[in-house]
Amino acid sequence: MHFKPTLQAFATLLLVQVTTAAPVSEVATRASTEIEARGECTWGFICGVIKNDPKSNRSLKVTNDWPKRDSGAWKWIAPGTSSTAVMKDADGFYVDPGCTATSVDDVLVWDSGKWHKINDLQEYTVKIIC
Ligand SMILES: *[C@@H]1O[C@H](CO)[C@@H](O)[C@H](O)[C@H]1NC(C)=O
Repeated sequence: MHFKPTLQAFATLLLVQVTTAAPVSEVATRASTEIEARGECTWGFICGVIKNDPKSNRSLKVTNDWPKRDSGAWKWIAPGTSSTAVMKDADGFYVDPGCTATSVDDVLVWDSGKWHKINDLQEYTVKIIC
């Protein structure tokens, strides 16, 4: 589709601007009431994307089935790779206990021992150190 990259870039830009104005959890809660987050992409082509930072020192577990999140739904992505290689629409990622997960700029920190949900307008790069 010709306009997909542009629209995704716009959506990412929009999120970045929203994120600077409000806590992540608040943004995620507000956005997920408007944006489809379970398994399907919004309008078929705006999809959640999770990337494992090249500086991570282990693979990241990502799911495309938020309510279940079982072993049939999640896949590992190696450092330096993207969820787009293994699934169309990523809905969340898991931080194993004892691991530290941060955004590349270290501004965002995701709790360990938990799943973290994203929505279709989000594209996160996660640096995970275990
Ligand atoms: C990852 O990096 C951390 C911090 O440098 C280190 O303590 C840990 O042993 C490394 N883990 C692996 C799996 O290499």
